Amino acid sequence: MQAKWSTLLSRFAILLPPPVRPALVNMGGLTWQCPAVHHPPVRVLLFDAGIEVTAGRRPDSAKGVCVLTDRDYRAVFEASPEAMLVVDWEGVIRDLNPRAVAMFGWSREELEGSSVERLVPMASRNRHRKYREDYVNSPPPSPMGQALELLALCKDGTSLPVEVSLSRATLGSGPGHVICAVRDITGWKQMRQVSRTMVAAAENERKSLSRELHDEYLQSLVALKIRVKLLAEEPDEEERGRARVHIAREIHAAIQGVKRMIRGLHPSELEQHGLAFALASQFRDLREVYGFKIHAKLDQVDDHLDSVATLALYRIIQEAVNNAARHAGVSDATVTARSEGGVVVAEIRDEGCGFVFDRHFGLNSMRERAAMIGGRIAIATAPGKGTTIRATVPVAGAESKEPR
Ligand SMILES: Nc1ncnc2c1ncn2[C@@H]1O[C@H](COP(=O)(O)OP(=O)(O)O)[C@@H](O)[C@H]1O
Ligand SMILES: [Mg+2]
Repeated sequence: MQAKWSTLLSRFAILLPPPVRPALVNMGGLTWQCPAVHHPPVRVLLFDAGIEVTAGRRPDSAKGVCVLTDRDYRAVFEASPEAMLVVDWEGVIRDLNPRAVAMFGWSREELEGSSVERLVPMASRNRHRKYREDYVNSPPPSPMGQALELLALCKDGTSLPVEVSLSRATLGSGPGHVICAVRDITGWKQMRQVSRTMVAAAENERKSLSRELHDEYLQSLVALKIRVKLLAEEPDEEERGRARVHIAREIHAAIQGVKRMIRGLHPSELEQHGLAFALASQFRDLREVYGFKIHAKLDQVDDHLDSVATLALYRIIQEAVNNAARHAGVSDATVTARSEGGVVVAEIRDEGCGFVFDRHFGLNSMRERAAMIGGRIAIATAPGKGTTIRATVPVAGAESKEPR
């Protein structure tokens, strides 16, 4: 077995980047992982075909191209991670693989012999039928038609975003068949939505920074310039002394403000001293700027989180306490963080005015940040009832498995 897999794997080694190859070729087992740093994660299917590959080598092939037997092709079809359907020219499903059964929720018996439009939401059935007829009348020359993004209808009535590739096949007699490879792209769509929200959030942060730089610091610098000019022209010694003290105080305030901005941009204290310390500086800033007090009870939760999750949690708490200080109409809030049963839970609670929850921007980016690290956000609020934001994040190494 060891020798057989090595032979087979060595044929595929060329598809992998150099750092992976030696490990792969020397491996006799059935599974391996390509390090994600070198290569995007891949799902690999291995068939017991090592011998077949060699046996199927076409004797007349000058380049020694390997040809799989019908049995091997069937194995590929059955084990494909994509749902595969074989549909005849009339649009009737003639064959399907186990992944199609799992994806759509219908049994093989229910789907075989029924129209492929059964898998298309009612609203798009006519359009789909037309596409199909056009494809039958003039199929594209390339073997796999360009992938189409569509919605598929499952047995339970839910619809699934899918990517469909079509290829024409001449199986047996008759006018031929179409092989449809169907990929569930729910996860990919979610990721695309997350990255859009994150890009929009970054742009929003830049906008608010530029506003703060303009309204706060540029204005104070302009005022300071005028004061310094007036100071030089002030004849009275005592008045000059008072003006100097004033100017020094304003410069100090501007320095503190810039330090706050730098901390907001990149909380270096987070890496150096941990989450509780970095949050404590942030809470101090809130007190200085808004006179807003935070009652904090923070366990050493960053022991359970990796650096990405710690930063995301920091940003979530930052957004929530800033919202409480700016919008809740009260002078204090409570922040807690603890780890329990495989998750870290952080809660930001205020007894303020509350609000009608809508898909607001900052709140949305909190959700996306949590989703990126496999966590979630729960928001409990109502007018006059205060607001509680609860972030739940899986501890490092316990991330929930990505749904298939
Ligand atoms: N703790 C809170 N108390 C009261 N209202 C809040 C609170 N948090 C958020 N809100 C309301 O939700 C809105 C959206 O919040 P957010 O998306 O963070 O945007 P922004 O803070 O930029 O206004 C706020 O404008 C405010 O009306
Ligand atoms: Mg906000």
